[in-house]
Amino acid sequence: MLSTSVLHPLLSRSTVINDLFSIQEAYDALNVQNLDDLFLLCDSANKSETLTSLYKRLRTVNFLSFYRSLLGRLEHVIGTDYYFQALPTIRIQWPSERAGTLHIDSWVGHGSSTINFWLPITPLDDTCTVWLSDSFHASDIITSMELGLISLQELEVIAKPYMRPARVELGSILTFNNSIIHGSYPSQNHRPRISLDFRICVPPYRIGIKKLGTDYLPAIQSKPIQTQPNIKKPALTVIYSTGLAAHLSHATQRAIIYDFCAANNFEPVYECSEYYNTPHYPKIHDLLKSNQGLPIILATSAAYSDINYIRSLALSFQTQIFDAFANKEI
Ligand SMILES: [Fe+2]
Repeated sequence: MLSTSVLHPLLSRSTVINDLFSIQEAYDALNVQNLDDLFLLCDSANKSETLTSLYKRLRTVNFLSFYRSLLGRLEHVIGTDYYFQALPTIRIQWPSERAGTLHIDSWVGHGSSTINFWLPITPLDDTCTVWLSDSFHASDIITSMELGLISLQELEVIAKPYMRPARVELGSILTFNNSIIHGSYPSQNHRPRISLDFRICVPPYRIGIKKLGTDYLPAIQSKPIQTQPNIKKPALTVIYSTGLAAHLSHATQRAIIYDFCAANNFEPVYECSEYYNTPHYPKIHDLLKSNQGLPIILATSAAYSDINYIRSLALSFQTQIFDAFANKEI
């Protein structure tokens, strides 16, 4: 594995990798005959249905094997030590519309170790494409945004002089990273722009809110990379749809607990629901009494009107109790 002090070269620049695939390969992977066939799928009166039907094509074995093949062909620029986004994204920029306002990807949940790969599958022009800043001018603007010194509208105005349209031939791939502001402007093309994009995550694996192993998968060639110790700590979990958490179903609370467990290396081994209309929390009391200090994870302390009482129980049984939603011990 690379040292964490060695940054991947693509984390410091954007580039175009030419002639990586033939556009017909992409059309075949999407099960369309050609460009005209692809445009026929695009119905501007039913935008979300169009996108849904294209996404279905991304989930086919045919498309996913094309995706894996592209990753293999990129090995000379990305190396072998990386995670890749499990599913690529497909985007449509409709005539007269933007496909996205200006941003960097860490603002939408991706980490600073991610590298974007962007592949148009319809011809571009200067309005019907993604626009990128350079990282030098973007730096101060990103800092101002992250310090809360400028609004989104001000960001658009300040960044505009440094934005340039990406010119990428069909069959080539544009790469860029989290230091580059990107987005698009209203398309003046009468036909939609369709592009695919995906990200990879490289050492030191700053992944943002995404998860290695689910949102991002390890490269086939990579050795398994342990980001957490293998041994998980067993824990008891409690779901309770009442109080300020009355609107959160058991399924929702369970999902919150499972995310907390995954992030904090817990293995849920037993789940119960607290009894309703019993202010002394008998089920939690019983868990504490009969489980010899195993930590207890509540979906949210908002469900409990007397969290101080639960805190005192935890103290008296010398057991940790966690609030999964707040991601902390109570
Ligand atoms: Fe983005």
